[in-house]
Amino acid sequence: MVAPSMDGYLLRAEEISAGYGKMEILHGVSLAVRPGEMVSVIGPNGAGKSTAFKTIVGLLLPKSGRILFDGREITGLRPDQVLRLGLAYVPQGRIVFPQMTVLENLEMGAYVERDPARVREACERVYALFPILAERRAQKAGTMSGGEQQMVAVARALMTRPKLILLDEPSLGLSPKFVTLIFEKLSEMKRAGYTMMVVEQNAAKALSVADRGYVLELGRNRFEGAGQALLADPEVKRLYLGG
Ligand SMILES: Nc1ncnc2c1ncn2[C@@H]1O[C@H](COP(=O)(O)OP(=O)(O)OP(=O)(O)O)[C@@H](O)[C@H]1O
Ligand SMILES: [Mg+2]
Repeated sequence: MVAPSMDGYLLRAEEISAGYGKMEILHGVSLAVRPGEMVSVIGPNGAGKSTAFKTIVGLLLPKSGRILFDGREITGLRPDQVLRLGLAYVPQGRIVFPQMTVLENLEMGAYVERDPARVREACERVYALFPILAERRAQKAGTMSGGEQQMVAVARALMTRPKLILLDEPSLGLSPKFVTLIFEKLSEMKRAGYTMMVVEQNAAKALSVADRGYVLELGRNRFEGAGQALLADPEVKRLYLGG
């Protein structure tokens, strides 16, 4: 089999159509990420942002289109297979195992890793980025604040040392202080060399930290470009940035 051309991209989702049952939600959406990039995906509620992420990570099978990751086609692979190839996913809604400690939650993130020494090493790497989780390693995740739980969810996804992390609404429902903190963490992750694609409600903040951005609307691509260019675009401003 000939390896598909990635053209400098780590991920290419090409003209994906997907939905639920007979209902088609995405009508040919394309998204791409280069190594080292932070890409933001914005758009109104119901635009299909979460559906796009679910399709990329294998939770939904696209009706048409294809998904290329790291030099191979991953269309139709299961989420665990996609994760093993280095594509991690943090779903919307900061899902943690509430009865488990922070450390146990992190260990669950590394379930594909058998070697305990490598799991410990992964924990140390994650603690360096999220020192609060080191302090709280023995605390039950369900007793932490919303913002802290979101950090557990993000940290858990980093445990496999993924090549790309998809984050769906990491700041949703958090207090302004934690929204700021989460965006700081995303910037730190980028500086630490992680490649990310992030869906965000907080469009202005998301575009200001992004290398590139996509605007989805009604299951289609509406705008794309450099984060700063989208921020400055009068139509994007008027339609999505409240001014
Ligand atoms: N499990 C599901 N079954 C049926 N329809 C669904 C399901 N999940 C989402 N939808 C529908 O798909 C459409 C797109 O939803 P999606 O969650 O992808 O939007 P979104 O852009 O992530 O919105 P939000 O900003 O509110 O998170 C919506 O009309 C939604 O009702
Ligand atoms: Mg969503």
